[in-house]
Amino acid sequence: MKALALAAARFLAGLLLVVPLAGFAAPELGRVYALAPASGSDGVLVANQEGLYLAQPDGRLSLLVKRDGGFVALVADPSDASVLYGSGRSGGLLRSDDGGRQWQRQSQGGPESFALLAVSPDDSKRLYGVADGVYRSIDSGRIWTRSGDAPDKLMNISASPGGLYAGTEEGLLFSTDGGASWRPASMRRIPVTMVSAEPDGTLYSFQFGQGFLKTHAPELAWTPLANSFGGQAILVMARNGQRLFAATHIGRLFVSDDDGRNWQAIGGARGPASAAEKRGEQLFAANCQACHGVLGIGEAPQFGKSLQGLAPALDDTAHAWHHSDQQLQDTILKGSPAPHSRMVAFEGLLNARDAADLVAYMKSLWGERALRCQGARHMDPGCMTH
Ligand code: HEC
Repeated sequence: MKALALAAARFLAGLLLVVPLAGFAAPELGRVYALAPASGSDGVLVANQEGLYLAQPDGRLSLLVKRDGGFVALVADPSDASVLYGSGRSGGLLRSDDGGRQWQRQSQGGPESFALLAVSPDDSKRLYGVADGVYRSIDSGRIWTRSGDAPDKLMNISASPGGLYAGTEEGLLFSTDGGASWRPASMRRIPVTMVSAEPDGTLYSFQFGQGFLKTHAPELAWTPLANSFGGQAILVMARNGQRLFAATHIGRLFVSDDDGRNWQAIGGARGPASAAEKRGEQLFAANCQACHGVLGIGEAPQFGKSLQGLAPALDDTAHAWHHSDQQLQDTILKGSPAPHSRMVAFEGLLNARDAADLVAYMKSLWGERALRCQGARHMDPGCMTH
């Protein structure tokens, strides 16, 4: 558990070079540990440090269950989504039979806390859990046996027909003996921050610098579906009907209605509404989006290429909101003061009104706190915690 947490923390610290730490504080959810389909609803269950939230595709967010220390792992039975397994920081394996409202302890002995959980699609009584090693259970999580050590630099696990996948910083691994031994599932040693297997053998994953990918076991010829998350990495996902939900390492939620090709952020900013904001949106699409990404999410890293010099997010997941309107307009018109920066001066092309409208558009992509604590105020802890 400790090794796992450390590996994940080290990797996340690396990602934060792309999406700076300020992003961590901005979202309301904080770190999202897991997602699971919300049975009987269009939404998704979100495990975080407070408990379980229900997030709807339209952005509505409600706290379903409050729990001391929250939920650090959560998984649905693939054959019946009203059956859920979860874990907090103590209390062993928990089970819910009503879609996550009520929970009981299920395990008799075994680890007190699981960082990761998976249910086999072949036999829903077969569970896998990661604590101080990989554990398995053949009786729905009552009795657990330790299979072996967890793979190095483990990020995520998912059970598929025939075995268990592990996303690690050094690539995707596969185990056919319940996590006792692992072999590389592919030749690519790209960090795999998320792997999610479906009962029909479909596999989704998020690979650093490649984005969101899909394949079918056992060939593992990956089809890239989307690399439109800027510097954010998807860590967890869940399916509810035709919808896919995903959460990134800074706790932002996304939903896709077309099998992962197009993703929409859930909640947060209201988007452009006023005439100035809408004019700014057009200017942004024409002049800025190629680098700063759709909705200002930032430039996605490319595998094998330097992380230096990427265009930062201009929504509220990076630093843009630490600057005043005037400073932002100056950057647009005069360019970045950094030598050789790709952020050139737009002075000849755009005028002061254009710059103001661009800033208005950017701010329509910010949440309430970024707007309230913009500029020098972001240094004021009082502003940031209210
Ligand atoms: C060729 C790619 C590119 C284009 C096009 C581009 N930018 Fe940038 N932009 C960058 C890069 C790279 C940086 C980081 C600059 C640095 O640190 O030197 C940046 C920085 C910025 C910043 C400062 C952000 C911060 O957090 O401090 C703002 C604001 C900005 N750009 C707005 C815009 C707007 C508005 C447009 C369109 C008019 C635009 N950019 C077009 C690459 C680009």
